[in-house]
Amino acid sequence: MKFFVDTGDINEIRSLADTGLLDGVTTNPTLIMKSGKDFVPLIREICGVVKGPVSAEVASMDFETMLKEGQKLAKIADNVAVKVPLTENGLRVCKHLSDDGIMVNVTLCFTAVQALLAAKAGATFISPFIGRLEDIGEDGIGLIGDIRQIYDNYAFKTEILAASVRTAQHVLDVARLGADVATMPPSIIRELYKHQLTDKGITQFTEDWKKTGQSIL
Ligand code: E4P
Repeated sequence: MKFFVDTGDINEIRSLADTGLLDGVTTNPTLIMKSGKDFVPLIREICGVVKGPVSAEVASMDFETMLKEGQKLAKIADNVAVKVPLTENGLRVCKHLSDDGIMVNVTLCFTAVQALLAAKAGATFISPFIGRLEDIGEDGIGLIGDIRQIYDNYAFKTEILAASVRTAQHVLDVARLGADVATMPPSIIRELYKHQLTDKGITQFTEDWKKTGQSIL
């Protein structure tokens, strides 16, 4: 499963890219607002740090303007994935851009039939939002399983990008169900490394190693 980080914080992106485990980046208008940076130069900077797909979201909802925005964003770098909303216009734009060989991430997906539409429109990625579904008492993880089954039934190439991931348990659940990608805030990626017995073991091994008086180097 690929790991994308869901942030507009370039310092976090650089730090996570240094681990060699980061496969891509997703952003959204809220994350851009939080970054306090200018959108286009920021996406250009991120694309220089991470070789994998970097999602940059359109802002307009009418077809003509959304298409122009998508075409402009796609020109920033070869690894930009244009992010469009799961609306009729969004999927029309998705079809146009994907026919032109541009990567498209269809966002704000909350049902499996929406995901089916996105795959038919040629989406590179579909982004089902797990956490936001759970916020309203619905089964976000179940949605990932449903989409996996539908995409496999018809051999759709669209990758399932589990989004709105809020816990390490979400990561485990979507990995079990065969999501292709999970996008997570930096804090969740870092949480994946942790276990209390790892910390305890390190403390014990470090103390005992010191007692040997030896050095490896
Ligand atoms: C995905 O691309 C979205 O930016 C993101 O996962 C939304 O997460 P949230 O629901 O925690 O804001």
